[in-house]
Amino acid sequence: MVYNTVLGIESTCDETSAALVQSGRCIISHVIASQSVTHSQFGGVVPELASRCHVDAISSVITSCLDQAAFPLSSIDLIAVAKGPGLIGSLLVGIQTAKALSWSLDKPLVGVNHIEAHLYAAIMGCDDPSQYFPALGVVLSGGHTTLVEIEGIGQYRLIGQTVDDALGEAFDKVAKLLGLGYPGGPTVERRAALGDPNAFPFRSGIVKGKPLCFSFSGLKTAVLYAYQALLRNGPLSEQTVSDLCASFQKAAFQDVTEKIASCCATLAPKAIFLGGGVSQNQALRRSLSQRLSIPLFWPSLELCQDNAAMIAGLGFHVWHINHLDERHTLDAITRVGW
Ligand code: KG4
Ligand code: ZN
Repeated sequence: MVYNTVLGIESTCDETSAALVQSGRCIISHVIASQSVTHSQFGGVVPELASRCHVDAISSVITSCLDQAAFPLSSIDLIAVAKGPGLIGSLLVGIQTAKALSWSLDKPLVGVNHIEAHLYAAIMGCDDPSQYFPALGVVLSGGHTTLVEIEGIGQYRLIGQTVDDALGEAFDKVAKLLGLGYPGGPTVERRAALGDPNAFPFRSGIVKGKPLCFSFSGLKTAVLYAYQALLRNGPLSEQTVSDLCASFQKAAFQDVTEKIASCCATLAPKAIFLGGGVSQNQALRRSLSQRLSIPLFWPSLELCQDNAAMIAGLGFHVWHINHLDERHTLDAITRVGW
């Protein structure tokens, strides 16, 4: 039996998504329902609301994914679901739906690490990824800032991670304090393009004894203090807000770029695979491609954000590596290590 056609389900945070993917990389259909409008009025994701929105959306998301492909449920070979990390209530909605489908269709089920799947989103766009291993993997999302060495699909070595805020989280917090709404990343990027990146001398944190780990909490606080100091002279002009965004973004990306360059100098990877919501940022893409001369693989913009295509694609490999049907055993894991 060839397990080729995979239904992927993603519900770790505030996107409900389903995708049909063949052979680990050919996307037949893909639906993403975002909850950002619901959460924007609260300035961030409200976990209880997120779970409820997933419950409301998941059946119709899966149905429209199958309709788009004109695929009957019976032609699915395998079901893959994001098992974590993520919000517990949100994860459980996807996992219980996946289990119900797996039992009723009598198809195997695999759980997929959401962070690994963000890396796989870049790998699945590459025609022959194995020629680029060992590679460096970089995940920059709302929950994670992680550097890993990739020996092969499923074989990783953790090199560095954030010790406090994730990079996307820092974008979201800076946007919130400047009154720019949620999610913060896209707005901060837009405003940064209008601002002076040298207006404020911000710097990212240095982690003592761990030169490849990240710290963005101090940077975020520096933006807060600068903002509060400016407010004493009255409301900020639009230009000053843009200058704050540009200076924050420059400091954050300089740090990421230098740490990636340092990994390249010591590990000599053949390529870099990047993923996660922040990897949509065009200033980051420019900064890295100007600084580095090895191949960089970025997912399409749709596959940078949380999505089920990366879950289905990686699920294909997880099944072919382990042959382990998890329909009776799979549980949500809010924190997943490497
Ligand atoms: O990967 P993702 O969709 O969800 C998580 O797994 O966290 O990442 C969401 C994060 C948010 O913090 C959002 O502000 C950030 O990605 N983000 C961006 C951009 N677009 C989204 N950050 C910087 N620049 C962007 N253009
Ligand atoms: Zn994610």
